[in-house]
Amino acid sequence: MSFKDVDPAQIESVLSKLTLEEKITLLAGKNFWETQDYPEKGVPSVKTSDGPNGARGATFKDGVTAACFPASSLLAATWDVEAAKNIGNALADEARSKGARILLAPTVCIHRHPLGGRNFESFSEDPFLAGKLAGQYIHGLQDNGVAATIKHFAANEQETCRFTVNEHITERALREIYLKPFEIAIKEANPLAVMTAYNIINGTHADSNNFLLQDVLRGQWGWKGLVMSDWGGTNSTADSLNAGLDLEMPGPTRWRKVDEVLKAVKSGAVSENTIDDRARNVLELLAKLNCFEDPTIPDETAINRPEHQKLIRSVGSQGLVLLKNEGQVLPLKREKLAKKKVALLGFAREALIHGGGSASVNAHYRVTPEEGLRAALGDTVEFEYAKGAHTFRQLPLMSDNVVNRENQPGWTLDFFDDEEPKGEPGSSTSSEQPTYIPLFVKESWGSLCARARFTPTQSGKHYFGMSGLGRSKLLIDGEVVYEQELNCPDSMGFLLGGVEEPEIQYSFEAGKTYAVEVVTVKPTSKGGLAMLDGFIGFRLGFMTEEDHNRDLLSEAVEVAKRSDVAIVFTGHTPNWETEGQDQVSFNLPSNDSQDRLVSAVGAANPNTVVVNCTGVAVAMPWLDEVKAVVQAWFPGQEAGNAIADVLTGAVNPAGRLPVSFPRAIEYAPAHGNFPGEFSDGEDGRRNLEVTYKEGVFVGYRHYDLSDENRAKVLFPFGYGLSYTSFTHTNHKASVTDGTVEVTVDITNTGPYAGAEVVQVYAGAKLAVPENPVKELVGFAKLQLEPGETKTATVTFSVRQLAHFDEGSSRWEVKSGDYEVSVGQSVRDITGKVEIRVEGQSYEP
Ligand code: BGC
Repeated sequence: MSFKDVDPAQIESVLSKLTLEEKITLLAGKNFWETQDYPEKGVPSVKTSDGPNGARGATFKDGVTAACFPASSLLAATWDVEAAKNIGNALADEARSKGARILLAPTVCIHRHPLGGRNFESFSEDPFLAGKLAGQYIHGLQDNGVAATIKHFAANEQETCRFTVNEHITERALREIYLKPFEIAIKEANPLAVMTAYNIINGTHADSNNFLLQDVLRGQWGWKGLVMSDWGGTNSTADSLNAGLDLEMPGPTRWRKVDEVLKAVKSGAVSENTIDDRARNVLELLAKLNCFEDPTIPDETAINRPEHQKLIRSVGSQGLVLLKNEGQVLPLKREKLAKKKVALLGFAREALIHGGGSASVNAHYRVTPEEGLRAALGDTVEFEYAKGAHTFRQLPLMSDNVVNRENQPGWTLDFFDDEEPKGEPGSSTSSEQPTYIPLFVKESWGSLCARARFTPTQSGKHYFGMSGLGRSKLLIDGEVVYEQELNCPDSMGFLLGGVEEPEIQYSFEAGKTYAVEVVTVKPTSKGGLAMLDGFIGFRLGFMTEEDHNRDLLSEAVEVAKRSDVAIVFTGHTPNWETEGQDQVSFNLPSNDSQDRLVSAVGAANPNTVVVNCTGVAVAMPWLDEVKAVVQAWFPGQEAGNAIADVLTGAVNPAGRLPVSFPRAIEYAPAHGNFPGEFSDGEDGRRNLEVTYKEGVFVGYRHYDLSDENRAKVLFPFGYGLSYTSFTHTNHKASVTDGTVEVTVDITNTGPYAGAEVVQVYAGAKLAVPENPVKELVGFAKLQLEPGETKTATVTFSVRQLAHFDEGSSRWEVKSGDYEVSVGQSVRDITGKVEIRVEGQSYEP
């Protein structure tokens, strides 16, 4: 399937029927997910859906179920462009099942720093790997008839103050690192849409950025498609229109109200031609997606396809990276384990399948590690489970033993026009849980009062946690027990369950009834809360003293002691690793509880294996205390099966790290310049400026600079073990007509069939300090039987050796000798070949 050819005459004819006002209305969404239609003028609407690892549909939480695919950092760890294409292809089926013809994916921003909250949705610290995988993902999606929206253009590498952060980035670093994955994927696969980023780049917001949208994207790269803003990421009227932002999302508009745009047209700030150009891009997208002929937007359905399940399981297991395997403790072969006991600790009963935010999906199902392992070995192995560590970020919502005004389980929510919740409420509702999240709401109230009567079943000093968007207080039996005096400092954190909440203790007597009440008022000033500006919202968490203070660690240690093997499942839940917030710590949450668990279990059981589900590198202070470590990322709905496949050896691990794992966060190249420098702004808001001081030396490009830097890495970029072993021999490289061909013979020298990822890096033989020593220029993945030898062939263009010269504004390849290094990681180089290259210089 491919897209329809655009008939310019048809587009011009539709355009000519629209009034200026109507054209202006086309330039913003009709609602949260759809574009504006004019059925009477023959203009249909088209629906979009998030996101990179699943097509969620219109509902953020608990909507129609969808297939949950592995997150992109796992996909990148497969180094398998076919896998990326297959996932893209399957996602098109999924998008269609949600009535969407546009998927808001892939995310290709660079992993600049391990604490980046959204790294998991994105591929790699290396622009070439990211660009190549994204290109095939887009091909897969678009070959199956759904438009890709590559995002977030550009340089969305952090979540802290993501709407307002001003990033200072040199043009060279932008071109070589941050724009590169976009450039590769756009040139290779021509996504129909691009989504701008929230952030400011060198003083100008991405949506209003002439340099990015006009000069680079549409000018130098010659791309013709639709540019939409991120949700709530339009920041101007005339500037964004002039820069080339076609579509403000979501609707209804904030910046493109007809009156405002007309005013801008009248004053000459925007021309009617510009409005036409923007509207034409919207209409052309509708035409390509066949919306004129078939304007239907089908209802959302859940289609749980066996072929998707299979794909998710297989790609999931291919992306797992075996980081350590001392004494060959893995694979856990059934013969070795028959009648033995295995401890399943940590997140064994929770499937950490995706990160938080718009990439989260209400999955058709989620296989936990325990379920996966029981299915694989349950007939012969005895499993015992213990949680082992508290990992919650916020206390769970208070919904047990509470009744509302009608004496029914739950809460009564009264909404008032006034900031004082007095008199008759303007509206009342009951809610199972004490929370109100003002997404998709139109009415804005002055205050909200949530009430319930609570009858505890246990006596004790129980715990509350609370947050409100505006000033809020918690009252028990009329007495104020906690007051939040300021606006919530972080609206995204509020939305995504990541606000730091105070722990409030209160003594209760079992069987007695208490009136619990939360009063929250509209945020005091406008600004800083983005889409939540002017709306009330709150949540109230609760935990009994017994649950809160339970010694989970000792229970887990006891289970580990009486087991033959102990597997600790560590990781980040979606509110610890999420869009909207960067990670709090390099150490696993919360407050190092998981690190303590691993160390204690490692001391109690000599066969301890760690399986870590995070989208990023994390601290592993316990590495020497355990036998094996598997980095499992976020594997999607088949998580438990994919993990069991690798642990049992049904699949021989072949994943390779798409990011470097530093020994300590202080060693990360962006350390000290992430998330940036805060200063006080207007309205009590914080300004944030960040300088990308490391320039092009991102990830391995930094660690590769010296022995001292190399020592800072725990696991290098490209690293990953296998249950078998490979040797590389006979390295060759030659240059013909601007193309370099590299060949190397790969032999599987171990006992299992398996896949090897051959990585090709290149750099000038006489290294100069301003350039990285070497950079990834190509890779290949080969499947080999034991004893088998195959020749890997990797080609790359001499132009990939170019660096951007800010003086001349050109790409320059210097004449001279270059070293082509073939490796099993950026560190484990198996052979080098010298080539001589003729210089060239060309325009961007
Ligand atoms: C995210 C986008 C997403 C959009 C719609 C934004 O907050 O940054 O990636 O596509 O929401 O959910």
